[in-house]
Amino acid sequence: MTLHTADDAGIAAAADHLHTGGLVAFPTETVYGLGADATQDDAVAKIFAVKGRPNFNPLIVHVGRPDWLAGLAEPDGRVDVLTRAFWPGPLTLVLPRRPDTPASKHVSAGLNTIAVRQPAHPIAAKLLAASKRPLAAPSANLSGHVSPTLADHVQADLGDKIDMILDGGPCQTGLESTVLDLTHDTARILRLGAIQPADIADLIGHVADGSSTANDDAPVSSPGQLAKHYAPSLPVRLNAASGEDKEAFLGFGKASASTLNLSPSGDLNEAAARLFASLRELDNPARFRGIAVAPIPKAGLGLAINDRLRRAAQGR
Ligand code: TXA
Ligand code: MG
Repeated sequence: MTLHTADDAGIAAAADHLHTGGLVAFPTETVYGLGADATQDDAVAKIFAVKGRPNFNPLIVHVGRPDWLAGLAEPDGRVDVLTRAFWPGPLTLVLPRRPDTPASKHVSAGLNTIAVRQPAHPIAAKLLAASKRPLAAPSANLSGHVSPTLADHVQADLGDKIDMILDGGPCQTGLESTVLDLTHDTARILRLGAIQPADIADLIGHVADGSSTANDDAPVSSPGQLAKHYAPSLPVRLNAASGEDKEAFLGFGKASASTLNLSPSGDLNEAAARLFASLRELDNPARFRGIAVAPIPKAGLGLAINDRLRRAAQGR
């Protein structure tokens, strides 16, 4: 049985697996991560193997405290104010990699940069404290699938290939972290998430938006932004008024006749938290021919939701 309650015994067993080079899925506030000791080459390589992840797509390294960052990345004047404001939480910082860092070269996938975040979920925090190691952790789904927001999603994608899944119930935020590139003078958003660009700009000045420019043929400075991510197997049609001809209809607000509704009250936080689980549930070719999705407001958290929906619609 890979699925395990995240009590003290579960955390201790998970830390043992990590120390001996195993893979442990654990909840974060955004989505479930597939963790390995970031300092062990073989363990990190296994992440790529079980996910079927292309070896050019680097991994986020999760830390238990902001001061772990100093051993991983070169110092940067903007880090302090950002980590004080947003850590622990869904902001990933991309920084120049310290040449002498103990982190496996595989986490950077050939780049001279490293992505780091401190997750806020109490189970993630306990696991990091118990393992005392930075943890490399991509979303715990098969490469190209929708990210997991329930332990059952991880079980379905990877259950027979990993050592353990710590069950922490549903993830609160439901969308992957905001990724911010700090390797140039102008900071740049590589992936939209719950931390808003405007709130980052308030602290460090102008922030460029690189979240929609990357595509499959572009050089891989932000490899995870390949359009082919986050895709269900059924076709996804956006900004739909209703479902047509055997389409499931994913509603929002007071949409009529929806198969599922992301948030009947029109709350974007609730919609984000439910998005991936809803897409997984509706992705059922035995019942539906496609998934039609109601329009989601294109502001605030709605921008990140629309970003994931656009990828889901392009992904096949
Ligand atoms: O919320 C999250 O970020 C979740 C949880 C588990 O922390 N993790 C996650 O990991 O979404 P993953 O691997 O699914 O997405 C990481 C993203 C990818 O788009 C990847 O290309 C990008 O971060 N990334 C990682 N390292 C990078 C680097 N050195 N430079 C540029 N982009 C990087
Ligand atoms: Mg992912």
